[in-house]
Amino acid sequence: MEALNSRIQQLQDQVKQQEKLASLGMLTAGIVHEIRNPLNFVINFSKLSKGLLKDLEDDLAANEQAIDAEDLEDIRDIMASLAENLQKIQEHGDRAVSIIQNILLYSRGKEDEFIPTDICKLAKEYVWLSYHAMRANYPGFNISVEERYAEGLPLVEVIPQDLSRAILNVMNNACYAVWEKTQTAPADYKPSVRVSVEIRGEQCAITIADNGKGMTDEVKQKIFQSFFTTKPIGHGTGLGMSITRDIIEHKHHGHIEFDAVENEGSQFTLFIPLKK
Ligand SMILES: Nc1ncnc2c1ncn2[C@@H]1O[C@H](COP(=O)(O)OP(=O)(O)O)[C@@H](O)[C@H]1O
Ligand SMILES: [Mg+2]
Repeated sequence: MEALNSRIQQLQDQVKQQEKLASLGMLTAGIVHEIRNPLNFVINFSKLSKGLLKDLEDDLAANEQAIDAEDLEDIRDIMASLAENLQKIQEHGDRAVSIIQNILLYSRGKEDEFIPTDICKLAKEYVWLSYHAMRANYPGFNISVEERYAEGLPLVEVIPQDLSRAILNVMNNACYAVWEKTQTAPADYKPSVRVSVEIRGEQCAITIADNGKGMTDEVKQKIFQSFFTTKPIGHGTGLGMSITRDIIEHKHHGHIEFDAVENEGSQFTLFIPLKK
């Protein structure tokens, strides 16, 4: 009997491990690949256009006398605006590239390695990733995401690849809960998810709250059980929250608080100690 139990435990661990890799790997590989190419086009063409603008400036300077002074001023104003716009396109393009690189970094860090991490940045990127994965997979998924990230948070030593997965799991559930509610709710229902990261005492608190379908008492009791799911096959494995608890409680020595009201929504807060 004991041997059987330990074998079951072993198999469960194996499945968990695979679920972790499969869900995140699929997300990142797919999105990173899809986004990188068009992003490179955006950045490269904005650089090229800046070069063209410079050529235009030289041509203009060489022909100044031939152009009416007022027209010349107009042209220079427009060119200055164009240069500013191109600068913005390039900056935001570069920012998007760095998000993608960070995501790859977080998902490739060494197993169980604690790294001083900007939790706000990490949360923001995974909230974004979850949102876009939901949009790609669920037709009509259109929600508002309200984000509040406290300023001046210190770097916190965490295992980035694990913490990011925990945030992804909770955010995915929140998105699904509001999407599910959208299917039956009256037309004036406004699906929304609120995300915040702040310091509370000696802990960093990451909160994800949704106004989705909420939970019954039975669901609340079973939520952390492996393989407990209320979702149809293909939409859930019932492993997300048990993995999340493992990550927060065992690996980071933090804890999870949650509350939910049926049909009104759920709220989860992940607490991570600021000092290991
Ligand atoms: N934000 C939420 N709103 C409503 N129900 C939730 C929420 N988060 C989790 N649940 C419930 O907990 C169950 C288990 O969640 P999880 O372990 O992530 O597995 P899965 O998402 O694969 O079903 C879900 O099937 C759902 O019933
Ligand atoms: Mg889940």
